[in-house]
Amino acid sequence: MKKTALKQRAAAIIDHILPEITALRHNLHQHPELAGEEFATAELVRNTLKFTDIELLPPFLETDVVGILHGAKSGSNVALRADMDALPLNELTNLPYKSVFDGKMHACGHDGHTAILVGTAIVLNELRESLSGTVRFIFQPGEEELALGKKLVEAGVLKTGGPEADAVFALHAFNQLPVGTISSRPGPMMAAAGFFRIRVVGRGGHGARPESAIDPILTGSKIVEALQSIVARNVSPQDAAVVSVCRFEAGKNANVIPEEALIEGTIRFLKPETEKILLDAMQRIVKGIGTAMNAKCELDYRMPYIPTINHADFVEMARCVTHEYCGNDKWIETPVPSMGGEDFSFYLREYPGVFCRLGIGEDVPGIHHPQFDFNDEALRNGMLFFVGMTLAAQLKIKN
Ligand code: NI
Repeated sequence: MKKTALKQRAAAIIDHILPEITALRHNLHQHPELAGEEFATAELVRNTLKFTDIELLPPFLETDVVGILHGAKSGSNVALRADMDALPLNELTNLPYKSVFDGKMHACGHDGHTAILVGTAIVLNELRESLSGTVRFIFQPGEEELALGKKLVEAGVLKTGGPEADAVFALHAFNQLPVGTISSRPGPMMAAAGFFRIRVVGRGGHGARPESAIDPILTGSKIVEALQSIVARNVSPQDAAVVSVCRFEAGKNANVIPEEALIEGTIRFLKPETEKILLDAMQRIVKGIGTAMNAKCELDYRMPYIPTINHADFVEMARCVTHEYCGNDKWIETPVPSMGGEDFSFYLREYPGVFCRLGIGEDVPGIHHPQFDFNDEALRNGMLFFVGMTLAAQLKIKN
């Protein structure tokens, strides 16, 4: 089939399945599952794909669904990834398909990502006679907090059970973009994200007799204040980094100096070499202030997310595909990287590809907000984009 005919055929199938995919999205939204617990979601995806010629692989971890579609001819191999997990949040919308589970909500659009990839799988399955190579559909659990993308890549999700992927693509809903637009940039796209915890152990006592106590609140306050000097005075103004304290817990009474304080927060950066600068400075501050204040301070941290770096060739491909498949005015170059974290970074560390944003409208609640909802109007272009990228990559890599 000629390229234009193929594109028209894809668009016709998408229009045909759009009501079904929208209903699937609502079903997912109504039944959110947290990171690592996506059992029902995985089951739903598997059951939907059962009616296609896509070969479903045994799970690599537990709740992942990975399928391989073999095209009629051999050629290059494309992997498409969607994340499936929800967030521990109470949903505050009045939607008819509002979450039925307290404290669980699809507040990051992963319901939309999953629905788009299911739809894309159905479309490409219909077009398999025109495919040269394979398409690997990866429905990933635990993007939030657990960063299970790292474990999946290590477990061989891009090479086991079929030909190894030549390119990987993913989309993420984004609220500061017009609905149906696609946006990305070459190079750094998302930040590395880590989390730290500082335990300050002093000596409890009566609030009226501070001389006999070691005050963990005062010590902790000095640490919080000093942490804010790290980015200002250790990181070059040309580079981007963030140190944010997001939790400070200590004390229960107005007249008792507590024994301990707990400080937690997050660090973000774009260049791998910034990690050491931030962590060394944190160590010095925590140790130094602890000594000065006579308190015992311990710093723990973990770095689950590395920076997401796009490959320039595939950003250019995404731009062309967006023009061709989604509309002439639908491509928006991402001006600066985001300081958010994303575990698709682990796919892009090993394989070439691109991570793109999918616009869901500008005047809507942002991701991780209790009133967030994925915009169904973005589903069509999400599917068109994935189909277009698959076909374009198979043409490009083959030549
Ligand atoms: Ni997300």
